[in-house]
Amino acid sequence: MKIAVAITGASGIIIGRRLVEELVKRKHEVHLIISKGAREVARYEDNTDLKKAEKAASRLYDEKDMAAPLASSSFAIDAMVVAPCSLKTLSGIANGYADSLITRAAENCLKMNWKLVVCPRDTPLSLPALENMVKLKTAGALIVPPNMAYYHKPKTVDDVTDFFVGKILDALEMGHNLYKKWGNSG
Ligand SMILES: Cc1cc2nc3c(=O)[nH]c(=O)nc-3n(C[C@H](O)[C@H](O)[C@H](O)COP(=O)(O)O)c2cc1C
Repeated sequence: MKIAVAITGASGIIIGRRLVEELVKRKHEVHLIISKGAREVARYEDNTDLKKAEKAASRLYDEKDMAAPLASSSFAIDAMVVAPCSLKTLSGIANGYADSLITRAAENCLKMNWKLVVCPRDTPLSLPALENMVKLKTAGALIVPPNMAYYHKPKTVDDVTDFFVGKILDALEMGHNLYKKWGNSG
């Protein structure tokens, strides 16, 4: 499948990196866009995450490149994931403010009914953020916030991250064993 992945300036850059790795492992074509905000957050988290994601992706785009294939809905993709998604980018997508390749590519997904998975991260959440999530859900996107769970007994940051990435793969209807599904024995 042809999948666009956008990594934006919310905490959890590692989620975007692990997602790209898992998609590439499954032989999907990954079209990656990294926002300036993501590069800023990565300076505080782990700079190597973005380097690894860039290396793994099939194609890398500048978020300012509005002439890139992803800017046009004539360049058909199967799905787009924004992970992690800042509240700023969430607002841009929810309100049709397509001022970057990320918000434009997401707008194309909404226009064309291609699967759009958005992973907004912040806490606590403001009313505008909650309203933007409702808008996007109503428009057909899947809202998959990186919310932590405890029932899978995570021991490391990698366990927590893989749980989120597993939830994104669930939204993309892709099989995985990144976390033990509820009701599965073993
Ligand atoms: C270290 C750091 C962590 C941040 N974490 C978040 C976050 O979790 N959620 C969020 O919405 N914004 C967060 N921000 C603010 C965004 O990065 C900022 O709003 C930025 O303009 C988003 O731009 P983008 O959506 O184009 O990447 C963070 C900023 C920094 C420097």
